[in-house]
Amino acid sequence: MKKAILLAGGAGTRLYPLTKIVCKQLLPIYDKPMICYPLATLMLGGLREVLIISTPKDLPMLEDYLGEGAQLGIRIEYAEQPKPEGIAQAFLIGAKFIGNSGASLILGDNIFYGKLDFYRDALAIERGACIFGYQVRDPQRYGVVEFDAEGKAISLEEKPKQPKSHFAVPGLYVYDERVVDLCRMLRPSARGELEITDLNLLYLKEKQLHVKLLSRGMAWLDAGTQMSLLEAGNYIATIEHRQGLKIACLEEVALRMGFISQAQLSAIIDRLPKGEYRDYLQTVCDEGPSAGPEPVG
Ligand code: DAU
Repeated sequence: MKKAILLAGGAGTRLYPLTKIVCKQLLPIYDKPMICYPLATLMLGGLREVLIISTPKDLPMLEDYLGEGAQLGIRIEYAEQPKPEGIAQAFLIGAKFIGNSGASLILGDNIFYGKLDFYRDALAIERGACIFGYQVRDPQRYGVVEFDAEGKAISLEEKPKQPKSHFAVPGLYVYDERVVDLCRMLRPSARGELEITDLNLLYLKEKQLHVKLLSRGMAWLDAGTQMSLLEAGNYIATIEHRQGLKIACLEEVALRMGFISQAQLSAIIDRLPKGEYRDYLQTVCDEGPSAGPEPVG
């Protein structure tokens, strides 16, 4: 089983002053902290061993919120990234945690909503790496992947001024067990970071990079700017209000994935403050693990 890394560091400068006291990944996306969304994605992929990486300042707060993960039937470890020296650095920091397993990385400000089969399929690939492509209006803000006529990925560029396609690479990646060794070969880019795109290029060069296109029915949002934070919150609120179901409710995901039992969920609910979240979980618990539609996002 692959290990999971949730990268939740960075200075959050683009969101200042929101991030003066609280780190970005604990800011609300409608009714729950941002980190719930990427963590739910990892859990829905079936991953149960998670390393959360953040700054020395923010790590205690994240740990305070999620603890060791036992309440969710998963195991969470924590590690510091003293400076934001690149997304690929996560694998060097997590080298011991990863060991000989492969690893999947998700960025703490990326939100996926929709059927996650594409992710489960990627996790099942044994050799190589798998990344995704998602059509966006403004690809120059992201890593960009270009395909040939047969749909094979032929180039990858980090924030190109003249993007060769409209397909951005979301912050969700899957790698085989060679990932740590390959990261050791990377050198900092002009902006002083170990680039995730450079790691993916190493796999591409070896013809070991799978790139799957996400359908337009999937929602991929990032919440790294004031406007995208607001848009993500509004999006989640709209769907939740319409369906009466919560997105990325971690205890619900844990129950439905079979990570915790109904009795365990009931014990958690007893400790929660009275309110809408507790009432929702009580309904989930009463209905049981397989009632209603499968949780997504
Ligand atoms: O969101 C997807 C994009 O994420 C990809 O398309 C790009 O290829 C990838 O480079 C990245 O681009 P960003 O411009 O979003 O990267 P940013 O530096 O903002 O970092 C993304 C998140 O990762 C952010 O929440 C902070 C965190 N981070 C980043 C770096 C560089 C860390 O925790 N440590 C770091 O060293």
